[in-house]
Parts: sequence; structure tokens; C-alpha cells
Amino acid sequence: MAAIQSFLYFATLVAILIPVSAQLTPDFYDKVCPQALPIIRKITKQAIRREPRMGASLLRMHFHDCFVNGCDGSVLLDDTANFTGEKTALPNLNSLRGFEVVDQIKSAINQACSANVVSCADILAVAARDSVNLLGGPAYKVLLGRRDSRTASKNDANTNLPPPFFNFSQLLSNFQSHGLNLTDLVVLSAGHTIGLARCTTFRDRIYNDTNINYKFAASLKYSCPRTGGDNNTKPFDSTTTRFDAQYFRDLLAKKGLLHSDQELFKGDGSGSDSLVKYYGYINPDRFLTDFSASMVKMGNMKPLTGTNGEIRMNCRKVNN
Ligand code: HEM
Ligand SMILES: *[C@@H]1O[C@H](CO)[C@@H](O)[C@H](O)[C@H]1NC(C)=O
Ligand SMILES: *[C@@H]1O[C@H](CO)[C@@H](O)[C@H](O)[C@H]1NC(C)=O
Ligand SMILES: *[C@@H]1O[C@H](CO)[C@@H](O)[C@H](O)[C@H]1NC(C)=O
Ligand SMILES: *[C@@H]1O[C@H](CO)[C@@H](O)[C@H](O)[C@H]1NC(C)=O
Ligand SMILES: *[C@@H]1O[C@H](CO)[C@@H](O)[C@H](O)[C@H]1NC(C)=O
Repeated sequence: MAAIQSFLYFATLVAILIPVSAQLTPDFYDKVCPQALPIIRKITKQAIRREPRMGASLLRMHFHDCFVNGCDGSVLLDDTANFTGEKTALPNLNSLRGFEVVDQIKSAINQACSANVVSCADILAVAARDSVNLLGGPAYKVLLGRRDSRTASKNDANTNLPPPFFNFSQLLSNFQSHGLNLTDLVVLSAGHTIGLARCTTFRDRIYNDTNINYKFAASLKYSCPRTGGDNNTKPFDSTTTRFDAQYFRDLLAKKGLLHSDQELFKGDGSGSDSLVKYYGYINPDRFLTDFSASMVKMGNMKPLTGTNGEIRMNCRKVNN
């Protein structure tokens, strides 16, 4: 009896001292490195001023980080003798960009705070938010305290990230497997309100899909011929450097750039049609608040906290 009691006492003590899953908090760096958030915003702003597309690239980087074993900075790791990382996986190769901006942010923060306390995973989450906001989108609060992984997996990146040829049900089950729902799928896909895609990612759509505006398809064929021009890029929506609800209105006009984009609006009253209409015409402002909520939800995917993982010194390499 006494043994059980002292065990219960001990277990309670452990439960109080060691939270099973530490929560992310918005003020995580307020004491240990107050310069962190202003530095991320400043360098992100400079990068976007140089090239507006960089905002899109940084948003995508955070998405690709989170969808592969959680938001843990794994996407930033270069290949090593121990693992082949995510950079050469199909969705990322010759495609993901912004690594130099992340490096610049990381070294500026470590210098300003004379300490290595801010994780690469958190830098991605904040740079994504700042990018969205600087291009006209919402300034939601980012929860912080993620730590960085000590490994990465090319194979996991290939299987976890949705490809552009997925149909609606494949997209939805991919998002559900990450703890996200239909609203999150529709709202987060509208991250494509900014940025560009390569011809190789939309060629099949413009030559083979039928639910595409004829003139829109024809106009894309000049820079995306049946063969060649794989790297030629086109904007996702007609206001490519503005974070707005235009993406949805383009879908309603059957002018989605990727097959996966147009899968969200087929005009048959199914699945997500009503959400696309809602965000496009009925309540575009609601897109901005719902996007914020879904980004926070995505940013909460399986973070490493407490003593798990590490704070990487260099975002491209695990610490020795
Ligand atoms: C729903 C499934 C999704 C698919 C199938 C998909 C697919 C793609 C593809 C194929 C590209 C072009 C890549 C290239 O040209 O090499 C792209 C770019 C992009 N994606 Fe997605 N994506 C999805 C969801 C998302 C989400 C959830 C976000 C962010 C919230 C996002 C943000 C972006 C951005 C901003 C770009 C442009 C990047 C740049 O210009 O550098 N995507 N996506
Ligand atoms: C590979 O892993 C081993 C054991 O964890 C470690 O000692 C070594 O430094 C790692 N090699 C590289 C290149 O990271
Ligand atoms: C596309 O660009 C990548 C570099 O980003 C290059 O390695 C590749 O050869 C290019 N492909 C074509 C078909 O030009
Ligand atoms: C979507 O793709 C999957 C896998 O190819 C297929 O089994 C399913 O029938 C497709 N759904 C629709 C509605 O076309
Ligand atoms: C998705 O989840 C959010 C909460 O995270 C909820 O508000 C929303 O209604 C859900 N949408 C669907 C279609 O279940
Ligand atoms: C379109 O579909 C045909 C027949 O399925 C296929 O051979 C071709 O590779 C597809 N893509 C393009 C760009 O024509």
C-alpha cells in the first residue's frame, strides 16, 4: 500500500516536472533572444524587396518542412554519409528555394544574441508568416519553441508531400494523414496565391485536362511546349505577388495552374466547391483569418520540444 502510494506520489511529481508534450508558445524567445523575431522580419523584408517571389519560396519551405515528419527543420539538412536528405526528393529538387535567406537569418540571430538558442524550424515558421504578411496577407501570431531534427529522409519527403497530379480524394487523404481537414486543404492550397510553378508541374494539365479555360491553356502553351522548356515558370494566380483571395476566383474561372489546384473546384457541387466560392466571392476576408488558423495548425505538426532534437548551429548540418 505504502509502495503504491509512494509510486503515485512519484508519478505525480514526474508528471508535474516533465510535461509529456511541451506546448509551443508565442513568447518563447522574448527573454533568451528578443532580437530574433525583428531580425527574421528585417531579413525577410530585404529578400522580398530584392525579389518578391522569395516570399512565396519561404512560405513553401515551411510547408515542405512540416509535412515531412513534423516542423523540425529537416528540409534544410544537406545530405550526409548517414542519410540522404530531403533536398533531392522529387517535390524539392530544382524547385525549393530560399536556403541562403535562412542561412543569413540564422547567422544574424546567433550573432545578435551571442548564443545559439533559436531553432531553424522556428525561423522557417516565422519567415513564412512574415512573407505572407509583407505580401499583403495576415500577421498571425506564430507559436514557437520547436527544436531541430538530427536527421532527414528523402524517402519520407517523396511519400509525404502531395504531387500536383493528385486528384481531390488523394489530396484530402494526404492532408488528413497530417491531421488536417477539408477546410485546411482548401485554405492552405491558396498559399498558391503567391509564387510560380515550372512548366513540368503543369504540362499535363494544360494539354490533357478538360476542366480548364481554353484561352488560359492556350496562353500557357507558348512557354510550356509539349517537349522542352521544363524550367519555364508561370504565376499561380493573376496577382502573383499579392497575398489575396484571387486564387479562388481563378479556380472559379477554371484557371487553376496545377491539376491539384483545379481539383478543389470542379463546378459539380462536390467536395470543396462551396468553400472555393465562399472564399472567392462571398467572404474573401474570411480567407485571411482562416489561413492564419490553418497555418498555426500546420505549424503545430509534431514539433520536437523539451530535450528532443537540438538547436542546430548551422541549419544545413546537425551539430557534432
Ligand atoms: C495541396 C497540395 C499541394 C500541391 C500538390 C502543391 C504543389 C506545388 C507545386 C508543383 C509547386 C511548383 C513547384 C515547382 O515549380 O517546382 C508549388 C509551389 C508553391 N507552393 Fe504548393 N502545393 C500544395 C500545397 C501548398 C501549400 C499547403 C502551401 C503553403 C501553405 C504551398 C505553397 C506554395 C508556394 C508559395 C509555391 C511557390 C513557390 C515559389 O514560387 O518559389 N503549396 N506547389
Ligand atoms: C553519422 O552518425 C554517427 C553516429 O551517430 C556520427 O558519429 C557521425 O558523425 C555521423 N556522420 C556524419 C557525416 O554526420
Ligand atoms: C532546370 O534547372 C536545373 C537547375 O535548377 C538544371 O539542373 C536542369 O538541367 C534544368 N533543366 C532543363 C531541362 O533545362
Ligand atoms: C483518385 O485517384 C485514385 C488513385 O489513382 C483512384 O483510385 C480514385 O478512383 C480517384 N478518384 C477519382 C474521383 O477520380
Ligand atoms: C477543420 O478544423 C477546424 C479546426 O481546426 C474547424 O474549425 C473546421 O470546421 C474543420 N473543417 C471541417 C470541414 O471539418
Ligand atoms: C497526355 O495524355 C496522353 C495520353 O494519356 C499522354 O501520352 C501524354 O503524355 C499526356 N501529357 C501530355 C503533355 O500530352
